[in-house]
Amino acid sequence: MIAHILYYFSDQNELVFDPMAGGGVVADTCLAFNRKCWSFDMDDRPETRPEIEPCFWDITNLKWPIIGKTKPDLIIFDPPYFKKQSNNYDPDGISGLTKEKYLEFLENFFSLAHVNAKKSTQMAFINADWRDFQNTPAKNETRVNSILINDYLRILNQSGWEETHIIQAPLSSERFQANVVSAMQKKGILGVTSRYVIMSKKKTSL
Ligand SMILES: C[S@@+](CC[C@H](N)C(=O)[O-])C[C@H]1O[C@@H](n2cnc3c(N)ncnc32)[C@H](O)[C@@H]1O
Repeated sequence: MIAHILYYFSDQNELVFDPMAGGGVVADTCLAFNRKCWSFDMDDRPETRPEIEPCFWDITNLKWPIIGKTKPDLIIFDPPYFKKQSNNYDPDGISGLTKEKYLEFLENFFSLAHVNAKKSTQMAFINADWRDFQNTPAKNETRVNSILINDYLRILNQSGWEETHIIQAPLSSERFQANVVSAMQKKGILGVTSRYVIMSKKKTSL
């Protein structure tokens, strides 16, 4: 997926900015595709991933980690999903936030990225709908508890970005084994099989 984003939305030697680099797939793929890459993560691993610089995005005081005039050509923003796997991530990370705080963080991040982007900068935001489907039959799910793609689009637009592409990226179906699907169907539970890459650019007029 990262290779496709780089191929279609950036050129050789361009600068890619990855604010939450995790395992470093973006940095690795940039190396293979001859793109420059600035990677950051709260998880500092000087021995194993020295190119990923330590940076904690503090929800109460967001700061762009690059001082100077250089602005990225492409931002690849792959934050931890809301609540999903929050047990596997650092408790200080954003996936344990409330829905309101999670969306507030994204809005503040998008606004800060807007200030630090060029007119031509593209942003790839990777995320998925969040629904409490694991425990809840589809007909009992409520909108109050969910984060859907229109929430992301709204806050992107509020922070000066305009979507150019909404690309569906299927999740692995391996976890949906026949017995799991059958149990879900019996309970009326509807799973999530896809995530999105929302591509956006700065709005030309606000
Ligand atoms: C979904 S992972 C990124 C996956 C990555 N694209 C990869 O290739 O593995 C999200 C990352 O965000 C980081 N993170 C979460 N909250 C953060 C915060 N407030 N500041 C900095 N990094 C954060 C986590 O440490 C985690 O590595």
